[in-house]
Amino acid sequence: MRITMIGSGYVGLVSGACLSDFGHDVCCVDKDQAKIDALNDGRMPIYEPGLDQLVAANVQAGRLTFTTDLAAAVAGADAVFIAVGTPSRRGDGHADLSYVYGATREIAAAVTGPTVVVTKSTVPVGTGDEVERILREERPDMDVAVVSNPEFLREGAAIGDFKRPDRIVIGTDDERARAVMRAIYRPLYLNESPILFTGRRTSELIKYAANAFLATKITFINEIADLCEAVGADVQDVSRGIGLDNRIGRKFLHAGPGYGGSCFPKDTLALLKTAEDFESPIQIVDAVVKVNDARKRKMGRKVLHALEQDGDGEVRGKTVALLGLTFKPNTDDMRDAPAIAIAQALADAGVTVRAHDPEGMDAARRIMPDLDYVTDPYEAARGADAVVIVTEWDAYRALDLKRLKDVLARPVLIDLRNIYRRTDVEGSGFTYAAIGR
Ligand code: UDX
Repeated sequence: MRITMIGSGYVGLVSGACLSDFGHDVCCVDKDQAKIDALNDGRMPIYEPGLDQLVAANVQAGRLTFTTDLAAAVAGADAVFIAVGTPSRRGDGHADLSYVYGATREIAAAVTGPTVVVTKSTVPVGTGDEVERILREERPDMDVAVVSNPEFLREGAAIGDFKRPDRIVIGTDDERARAVMRAIYRPLYLNESPILFTGRRTSELIKYAANAFLATKITFINEIADLCEAVGADVQDVSRGIGLDNRIGRKFLHAGPGYGGSCFPKDTLALLKTAEDFESPIQIVDAVVKVNDARKRKMGRKVLHALEQDGDGEVRGKTVALLGLTFKPNTDDMRDAPAIAIAQALADAGVTVRAHDPEGMDAARRIMPDLDYVTDPYEAARGADAVVIVTEWDAYRALDLKRLKDVLARPVLIDLRNIYRRTDVEGSGFTYAAIGR
């Protein structure tokens, strides 16, 4: 198959690289010349484990190319994937579809024969209809089918998720398009990943419903964690105790400082907007968004509270080491990361923040230029009044507690990801605060 991927961001680049690895001939397009130059040079615009080797191997094999020339890439393609960004629109929370429709118009101008246009970007219900309308209006002469094919990959585990998905969702009523999509994903369903064929609107909604459900699950356990703290229960045991029920499931029941990232915050908001537009409110998701937003600020107050408890009751002038800034490990993505709200709450209270992250410091510096960034976790802790683990990078899972205690002014460890055992930390002479335990 000849596949064109419009948009070489996170989803486009990973999907393009994986599809070429299946043996397809893939051309990834982006408007950003610097990004394409970097990719042609073997440099990745994002940090994703394994991506550089995957790209290099497929470029070498001649199956994967990068260009800014959309028209040349689209001409003669069997399938054209749209994987451009759909950020939250400033002001109203609707998904901004200008990039999707812009790409659609450029595709319309460039198609030379029967093509399947596939929306891989997360797009609100009805977007596929509009993409089809634009294509038909601009190219009534062309046989172009429009398919919805949402992507469920997680940052940091993107290649594994793409190659071994729990399911592939394909939304179209067009038989020829189904055949093309089946051929594209044949290596996966040979591996027994189920393919779910649905209507296009249903497929578009599946993506939002999945993300909103996962965001709800996390927010649910986060509120249970708060209750655990109040009543003296342990949220990790509660998670295990409910998660072993197959109807509930064990995953996404890890309490923490609130979800962040490029998908959950934006997709929950966009789903609420769709629900509002169609006068079919989803009150649970509305509550999830509000609770999660408030939680990030609440984590800042939790740290301030621990500082007050352990010392002279004064927080102004104290120093805190934040370990982990990205919204989760194995990514350099800072979008909607809880660390931002926590650092802000600390700075507002007159606390000096020293920060460390294995991959996210460049991105963090752009958002929070005033923090003191250091290249080593123990350096961050030197002379500080508390260490806060905000993101559960592996590098923080086995800190040398004795060494940490020696460099700290006060031995306080606040573990917002529950990666330590209370007995170990307290046994090393620390005051320990965690989530829901
Ligand atoms: C998510 C979805 O998982 C993926 O299917 C979709 O395509 C894009 O959005 P991603 O944003 O990469 O992927 O991260 P994910 O691993 O799902 O984590 C999202 C947030 O939830 C992170 O901030 C993470 O720390 C938090 N989280 C996750 C928890 O707090 N507890 C959990 O148990 C799981």
